[in-house]
Amino acid sequence: MWENVFDWEHLPALHDGQFHSIALLDSGDWGWRAQVVNQPGDGRPQVIEVRADRAAGAYVSATVEGPGAGSEVRTRLTPLAPDRTGIDVAFHVPESDPARLAMIGERYRAIYVRLWDEDEAMMVERERALAARRAGRAGTPETVLLGAPEAVRSALPRLVEVGGSRFRIVEVDGELVVHAATCPHWLGPLETAEVVDGCVRCPWHDYAFDVRTGRSTDGRGLTLEAPPRLVMVEGQLALVPA
Ligand code: FES
Ligand SMILES: [Fe+2]
Repeated sequence: MWENVFDWEHLPALHDGQFHSIALLDSGDWGWRAQVVNQPGDGRPQVIEVRADRAAGAYVSATVEGPGAGSEVRTRLTPLAPDRTGIDVAFHVPESDPARLAMIGERYRAIYVRLWDEDEAMMVERERALAARRAGRAGTPETVLLGAPEAVRSALPRLVEVGGSRFRIVEVDGELVVHAATCPHWLGPLETAEVVDGCVRCPWHDYAFDVRTGRSTDGRGLTLEAPPRLVMVEGQLALVPA
């Protein structure tokens, strides 16, 4: 939960239906403040501030400048079990007209439910990927037979698990390329990311990678996990440990 609360960077990537762009202004143990532009990107920017009180299990998302300034979303968390959290959300809007208040409240509620579902899906997948990585590292990488070359090419993209890690085989400019299907940043899923000019972008924070070299193409200095090698074994394509 807290990892997600402090993660300002995912807003325009994971929640691209709501946010167009974000620029961080400040951050620290207290939370973060950022300038945000909502979709479709032609509106006035807002400054959003998230203040967290971890000890109290509470955080406040406040719009401090721009459209909606003065609004706050106050969230209180109650641990119920290792994988269950009680969530209490209250919207505070500086509006006295009851009809307008009800309309704004409903809009906030609908947006918040959608964002929450997207956040929850990301963090559940992150937990799964972390667990898989821990389990996979203990395993021995194996050789995986893929089939005859023409059969492999006709069924791309193809996802393959090797040694507990997921890889994807794609065709780039006629060449078969194997790349890690897990992002090295927060283990986001790259398995359905579109390949454009030999690059993929992660759906969680929009980091970009060259699938042939595995390197960041956006200056972030990350590298995808080294893929297994694609070789021929008795007339079949196969993946063997790098
Ligand atoms: S998990 Fe953050 S960019 Fe991929
Ligand atoms: Fe989010």
